[in-house]
Amino acid sequence: MSRRIVVTSPLPGGALELVRARHDVDLLGGEAAPTAHELHSAMRDADALLCMLTDRVPRDSIAAARRLRVIGNCAVGYDNIDVAAATEHGVQVVNTPNVLTDATADLAWALLLAAARRIAEADRFVRAGRFHGWRLDLLLGRPLRGRTLGIAGMGRIGSAIAERARGFGLSVLYTQRHRLDAHAEERLGARYVDKAELLAQSDFLALGLPGGPATRHWLDHDAIAALRPGAVVVNTGRGSTLDEAALADALERGHIAAAGLDVFEREPDVEPRLLALDNVVLAPHIGSATDETRSAMARAVAEDILRVLAGEAPHNPVNSPARSA
Ligand code: GLV
Ligand code: GLV
Repeated sequence: MSRRIVVTSPLPGGALELVRARHDVDLLGGEAAPTAHELHSAMRDADALLCMLTDRVPRDSIAAARRLRVIGNCAVGYDNIDVAAATEHGVQVVNTPNVLTDATADLAWALLLAAARRIAEADRFVRAGRFHGWRLDLLLGRPLRGRTLGIAGMGRIGSAIAERARGFGLSVLYTQRHRLDAHAEERLGARYVDKAELLAQSDFLALGLPGGPATRHWLDHDAIAALRPGAVVVNTGRGSTLDEAALADALERGHIAAAGLDVFEREPDVEPRLLALDNVVLAPHIGSATDETRSAMARAVAEDILRVLAGEAPHNPVNSPARSA
């Protein structure tokens, strides 16, 4: 039986066609993302929602969507969705882990290297016509070999960031709520520490934490003060985990040498003081932004929605709702 699927963005990788072949698709918005009101109304008689991480899916919209069976978030993070409300209402939530792990870990490294070696600043320097010849003291950055990389959030992406550290000669520390098993730690060459030790020991700190109340401002003023002077911070998790104003203070004072940010507290807004600083590299939430990865994400979420609508188990469940009647 054909169902009604609300989709909030055009999809690459043939994912939209995949869904359209079996169901009625209501593609919202055009150039712009749908407003909260448009999404709420569209969800009212939808059987499935395929949304982006920029779409807020609050409790009242889930409660009002009486036919809704599944929400597919085209992202690994799902702090935009009230998952507890979905579970209470028997709505399955699915996401897109795995397919974006390498792309996001690569981007974390791109930011780390760009921040450490002042690449964005160097690019601006050349474009401004300021390159008047090689100099022994021009744009000196920070070395990696022999230093310590701290990773906060050692999920798939954090682990992939750790894997890449070996070639740069960094030792790796990590912290998160659950310690990895000894085999995984050995494979990654990563040592488990608590947050205080991570902050005290890291020359480079990579944040890959999920969003939500539990991780809000994980790196706040006090945590930043506990970092080694001259540390470099990168964030490819969620912007809410880092206090941008406190980071701007520390970058201005030089306590933190540099930062690389792909995610922000109030996207698409960026703390204006960061925009004025040369020692921060900014990217517009492009962690998973390769052709191949975005297509794989769109297909993964479309396929899981089709599975749930067909009464099958999804491959990437976020919650375990009681089967709705
Ligand atoms: C991107 O931030 C994602 O959660 O996929
Ligand atoms: C997020 O949970 C990840 O894939 O690291």
